[in-house]
Amino acid sequence: MTPTNQTVVITGASSGIGLALAKTFSTEGFNVVANSRQLTASGALEASPRLLLVDGDIGDPATGKKLIATATQNFGTVDVLINNAGVFVPKPFHEYSFEDFQRVFRTNVEGFFHVTQEAVRRMREQGGGQIIMITTALDQQPLAGVPTALTNLTKGGLNSVTRELAIEYAKEGIRVNAIAPGIIDTPMHQPENHEYLAGLHPIARMGTVDEIAQAALFLVRAKFVTGEVLHVDGGAHAGRW
Ligand SMILES: NC(=O)c1ccc[n+]([C@@H]2O[C@H](COP(=O)([O-])OP(=O)(O)OC[C@H]3O[C@@H](n4cnc5c(N)ncnc54)[C@H](OP(=O)(O)O)[C@@H]3O)[C@@H](O)[C@H]2O)c1
Repeated sequence: MTPTNQTVVITGASSGIGLALAKTFSTEGFNVVANSRQLTASGALEASPRLLLVDGDIGDPATGKKLIATATQNFGTVDVLINNAGVFVPKPFHEYSFEDFQRVFRTNVEGFFHVTQEAVRRMREQGGGQIIMITTALDQQPLAGVPTALTNLTKGGLNSVTRELAIEYAKEGIRVNAIAPGIIDTPMHQPENHEYLAGLHPIARMGTVDEIAQAALFLVRAKFVTGEVLHVDGGAHAGRW
């Protein structure tokens, strides 16, 4: 592992995709500032001088400020922000409560807003950086029998704002991309549903967290790519099968 002197901030890093992102970027030599509400208590990651853990709800503006300040004070720059923290509440639209709505918006939208504003301010000062959102392929490909209106509303918004921010900040050296996963094998999904979920992709299996981490590494290194929503979904976005 050769240190890159680059620093990545990753939200939702105690489990699933975020945990894989934190481990992969650490192995690839990045300084990592990782976050989730219960990150320290979870024991998922071991802190080290180049892997810092910041507990906190990403829907709270103070958490975003703390993440960017921790990266800046310890490592000097915020080169990459990965907005990964998210919650998934699938149910028929008419059954959602307003509490469901507020819970999903707090993490998926407010959680994006606060830390990304702080990161963009820092990246403008340092002359560049990049932001990656972890969204969903369901935005472009809603599925009969998989009711996910609040996911589509929030993650679809993130896919859209990815393109908007890419245009808004391209001249300041800030690249903004998204990864739109299919169904990925994480604790978000119960093992008894795996067989059904595998069938939701033309490549008839669930994706792995490593496949998402490799896509994120690709985007970090792909310096002429911005405003891209990269589908890592076994081909689901391409059509019917
Ligand atoms: N798995 C899939 O099939 C799939 C597909 C498409 C998109 N995604 C997206 O990928 C992302 C990660 O999903 P996953 O499957 O890896 O989920 P997961 O295993 O449930 O992990 C979610 C992570 O987010 C953290 N988190 C939740 N709410 C938070 C908050 N308010 N503030 C800070 N951290 C918070 C959780 O830790 P704490 O509980 O400690 O806070 C945990 O580390 C999500 O945005 C999800 O929507 C997943």
